[in-house]
Amino acid sequence: MRKTVYFIPGDGIGPEIWAAARPVLDAAVARSYGGERLLEWRELQAGEKALKEQGELLPESTLQALRGADLAIKGPLSTPVGKGFRSLNVALRLALDLYACIRPVRHLRGTPSPVRRPEAVNMVVFRENTEDVYAGIEYGAGSPEAGRLIAFLREELGAEVDAASALGIKPMSERGSKRLIRRAVRHALERSLPSLTLMHKGNIMKFTEGGFRQWGYDLAAEEFAESCVAEEALRKNPSLAKGRLVIKDRIADALFQSVLLQPEEFSVIAAPNLNGDYLSDALAAQVGGLGLAPGVNMSDALAFFEATHGTAPELAGKDRANPSSLLLSGVLMLEHLGWNEAAERVRLGLDAVLARKTLTPDLAARMPGAVEVGCRAFGELLLQAVS
Ligand code: NAI
Repeated sequence: MRKTVYFIPGDGIGPEIWAAARPVLDAAVARSYGGERLLEWRELQAGEKALKEQGELLPESTLQALRGADLAIKGPLSTPVGKGFRSLNVALRLALDLYACIRPVRHLRGTPSPVRRPEAVNMVVFRENTEDVYAGIEYGAGSPEAGRLIAFLREELGAEVDAASALGIKPMSERGSKRLIRRAVRHALERSLPSLTLMHKGNIMKFTEGGFRQWGYDLAAEEFAESCVAEEALRKNPSLAKGRLVIKDRIADALFQSVLLQPEEFSVIAAPNLNGDYLSDALAAQVGGLGLAPGVNMSDALAFFEATHGTAPELAGKDRANPSSLLLSGVLMLEHLGWNEAAERVRLGLDAVLARKTLTPDLAARMPGAVEVGCRAFGELLLQAVS
């Protein structure tokens, strides 16, 4: 079986980490299936390379291919300031309706972590990807747009707004929230996970973040009544927990504390866009940092895997980047395909290399006794480990 995968190596450290990660994925597939299954890679352009060669950051041909695809993977992309996009990544997510950003967070044995029990962290964050303050409806202080909007808010709605304010709009819809939460509930049920936590700041933003919370509980009651139970209902009748997914909610600031203090209480977390952005990076740090965090952005048609970090321009071209985030995103892709043997082979290979303490500088610097190797050499060690 051949599976077509579109790939964008990306900018900055992207090409280096891609060159280190891709052969490892191919080798794991070859070793696991002896040629019966094959990843067929097709390159697409976006970012600086596309700008140089095609005069556009996000060529229509790239979007066209991705619109018809079910599988793709990318390195980080930079957005040159003042080139028409707020962020190329956000533009891609909106253009392809990649509404769910899914980031599993788990500690890899042997990697340095700033917390005492990193192994207790085993969570998957489902972040809404298209709404919230990322919709890009924002007006600068003193701009004519802000002036008109402030006049409307004051005169028509009686709101008190300083006339010199900058303004941002935070649209969050029932449809947008429910489709993300539905996906998170299904993920938890398919894997028999114990709980799903709705992260929100509804005590302050009653209708947007509070709406997200309420729509989550509504969805569970409307579509998953047999298999889910709200935490509140458990207080009255604890026996309802048996065999059911517990749906709970936590206010964002309290959740940041709880994931540090009681990480075992959380398995799947569904969050609006901005909360999810903050939380996924904080959790990634808890298990060792961004260089190790994989992720995927999904629409109903396309699963677009990506390294969750940026282009790390200060490391680009220096052979110092850690390719693990992109590699682990490839592992998620193999699991998504159901090619679990190959996925496990890469995981074990990475475990073995980490156990030898031969690490890229980001990890070596935090691990006493580690031997520092470059991105290329780290990739070669991984390749040996999976072959
Ligand atoms: P960044 O993620 O590139 O860097 C943050 C820190 O993490 C830096 O100290 C960097 O050296 C380190 N780091 C990141 N990836 C690493 C790796 N694989 N190995 C070792 N160390 C690593 O974030 P920053 O500096 O805020 O953004 C730089 C550029 O990346 C910007 O143009 C931004 O727009 C873009 N970006 C792209 C993303 C994407 O394509 N998904 C996500 C975040 C930022």
